[in-house]
Amino acid sequence: MLSFNNVSAGYGGVPVVKDIAFEVADGETLAIFGHNGAGKTTVMRCAVGDVTEVTGAVSYRGEAVIPGAVFRNVRRGIGFVPQGHNVFRELSVRRNLTISGLNHPDAKVDDIYRLFPILRERGGQLAGSLSGGQQQILALGMALMTQPSILLLDEPSTGLAPIIVRDVMSSLTKINRETGTTVVIVEQNIPATLKVASRALVMKAGRVVFDGPSRELERKEDLWAWF
Ligand SMILES: Nc1ncnc2c1ncn2[C@@H]1O[C@H](COP(=O)(O)OP(=O)(O)OP(=O)(O)O)[C@@H](O)[C@H]1O
Ligand SMILES: [Mg+2]
Repeated sequence: MLSFNNVSAGYGGVPVVKDIAFEVADGETLAIFGHNGAGKTTVMRCAVGDVTEVTGAVSYRGEAVIPGAVFRNVRRGIGFVPQGHNVFRELSVRRNLTISGLNHPDAKVDDIYRLFPILRERGGQLAGSLSGGQQQILALGMALMTQPSILLLDEPSTGLAPIIVRDVMSSLTKINRETGTTVVIVEQNIPATLKVASRALVMKAGRVVFDGPSRELERKEDLWAWF
């Protein structure tokens, strides 16, 4: 279980996440929505220990997520796909995958290739020469190379064509169902994300203003007033 207990976080003394509390059970699929600047990325970064100005408690499977110790947190099974196409542009697709793997990287690459055949097809190509959407898929493959038990994705559909969005979302459903990986997705594409996530949080100005089943959120008539 990932747990946020009275967590506040910010940058340079300015709080941007304000006293939030929520839990994500193992195997759950959670979406986090909210307007630009609401604090969604900051919440994700807190979950992987990438924000140092934090108060309150963030923990994963009963142990504190240590601020500033991203690598250690990743080793504990917390996988993070940051916003934007974070790939090593000057390295091949295959090399991007192998350097991201913690254990048995070569064996794991084949699993990723099975999941995303486009990466096998482009294995020898420089990552920087992939299309934006292909780079996004590579970034997801790189996070999966760490064999996470919880996968945090920050706007994975940005810049992707609708058909690719569908592929990415259905691969997340598949990963969740087949391996029990917990999935937390920050997204602007609400309809596509609600197909994957059974529960949703909505953030507004650093606070959680809704936490409930996706179906309940879909029915809310004043939903759009939050964005
Ligand atoms: N490294 C940083 N230094 C200073 N301020 C930051 C930093 N990162 C984020 N902020 C500020 O914190 C607030 C929350 O940002 P955050 O990136 O968490 O929002 P978000 O909900 O992910 O927004 P978006 O939908 O635009 O990605 C914003 O006002 C932003 O300007
Ligand atoms: Mg963001």
